[in-house]
Amino acid sequence: MKIPKNKRSEIDSMRYLARKITGLFLVLFGLLALLFLGLLTYRPPAIPLQDLTPVPETKPWHPRDINAAGVSASPLVRQGYLYLSESAAQMGPGAENPDMRFSGNNLSCTNCHLKGGTQAGSASWVGVSARFPQFGGRSNRIGTLEDRINGCMERSMNGRKLPAGSEAMRAMVAYMEWLGEDLPAEREAEYEGYPPIALPEAAVNLEAGKAVYLRECTVCHGADGQGIPKPGAGYLYPPLWGPDSYNDGAGMYRVITAAEFIRSNMPFGLASRDNPKLSDQEAFDVAGYVNSFDRPHKTGTEADYPDRTLKPVSTPYGPWADDFSAEAHKYGPFPPIIAYYKEKYQLVKNK
Ligand code: HEC
Ligand code: HEC
Repeated sequence: MKIPKNKRSEIDSMRYLARKITGLFLVLFGLLALLFLGLLTYRPPAIPLQDLTPVPETKPWHPRDINAAGVSASPLVRQGYLYLSESAAQMGPGAENPDMRFSGNNLSCTNCHLKGGTQAGSASWVGVSARFPQFGGRSNRIGTLEDRINGCMERSMNGRKLPAGSEAMRAMVAYMEWLGEDLPAEREAEYEGYPPIALPEAAVNLEAGKAVYLRECTVCHGADGQGIPKPGAGYLYPPLWGPDSYNDGAGMYRVITAAEFIRSNMPFGLASRDNPKLSDQEAFDVAGYVNSFDRPHKTGTEADYPDRTLKPVSTPYGPWADDFSAEAHKYGPFPPIIAYYKEKYQLVKNK
C-alpha cells in the first residue's frame, strides 16, 4: 500500500514527537534516580561530642517559698517558719505560755532577715546551715548555728537564749536547712551576709542622716522611729529605736553593719541588693542617725570579743585594742581605725 506523501510526513513528525517525549521522560527519570541515590547515600556531617551533652538547665533557680511549698515541707519546717516570722506571738511577749516568752521585744526575726530569710542581701538564711559550725570573734570560739541564733535572740530580739534541744530551736534550724537544700553552689555567695559599702572618709553626718530619714523612712517607721504595730502581736512596720527595738549589743547597732543592711534593703520594697536606692553615703549617715537614739541596754558586753583585736571597728562599746574614742567607734571616721589595725596588727578589717 502506498501512503500519500503528506500522510508520511505526518507520521514522521508524530514519531519525532514520541521520541522527544520518551527522551524527556528518560532525563527526568535519571534525575529522580540521582536524587534518590543522593538521599540514600547522604551522611550528615559529624557533630562534635561536646555538642551532644545535654544543654544545661536553663530554668532559673529561685529560693524556696514556704507558702508555696505546702505539705512538701515537713510540719517541723513549717513550724520553724512560724517562729521566725511570728516571733512575738510564738516565742516572745505575745506568747500565751509565759515559759515560751524568750524574745524580749515584739520584732520578728524576719523583720531583718527579709522574705522569710530568702532575700539576698539581708543576711539570708538560704545556705546558712552549711556555713556552721563557724568561728565567731564575739565569743572567740567555734559556734554552732544554734549559738548564732541565740546571738540574735539575746541582742536583736533583746531576749534570752533558747535551749539547744527545744522544739523552737529545732524547728528554726530545720527551716534554715530546708531553705538551703537545693541551693546551687554558684549562687551561695549571693545569699551570704550583706554586700559591703564603700566606707566614707569622714564620720557620720547626723544632720544629713536626719534629712535622709525624714525623706525616705518616716512614711513607714514614723518620725519618732516607733513604727506601726500589727493587730495581735508584732509589727507592720518595726520600730528602729526605743524600748521595743534591738539592744545596744546587737549587730544592727554597729553603724557599718546597719548601713550595709539599709543600703541593700531600705526603703522597703524599693531597694534591693542589686538595685539599692540610697547611696553608700546616705545609708551610712542614716544608719548613724537611727543608732543615735536610746535603746535597750545589753549587760555583759565588755566580755564580748575576748581577743579585742577581732572586734569590728564600728563596735560602739569597749574595751578596744586601740585608743580611738568611743565616739569614733560609734560614728567614725573609720579609715584611720582600719589603718591602725593594718599597721599595728597586720589585720585587714572592713567593718
Ligand atoms: C534587728 C535586726 C535583726 C533581727 C531582728 C534578727 N537578726 Fe539575725 N542577724 C542580724 C545581723 C545584723 C546579723 C549579722 C549579719 C552580718 O553581719 O552578715 C544577723 C545574723 C544572723 C545569722 C547568721 C547569718 C550568717 O549568714 O552567718 C542567723 C542564723 C540569724 N541572724 C538568725 C536570726 C534569728 C533566728 C532571729 C530571730 C530569733 C534573728 N536573726 C533576728 C540582725 C537581726
Ligand atoms: C515602705 C515602708 C518602709 C520604708 C519607706 C522604710 N522601711 Fe525599713 N522596714 C520596713 C519593713 C516592712 C520592715 C520589716 C521587713 C519585714 O518584716 O519584711 C523594715 C525593717 C527595717 C529595719 C530592720 C528592722 C528593725 O526594726 O530594726 C531597719 C533597720 C530599717 N527598716 C530601716 C529603715 C530606714 C533607715 C529607712 C529609710 C532609709 C527605711 N527603713 C524605710 C518598711 C519600710
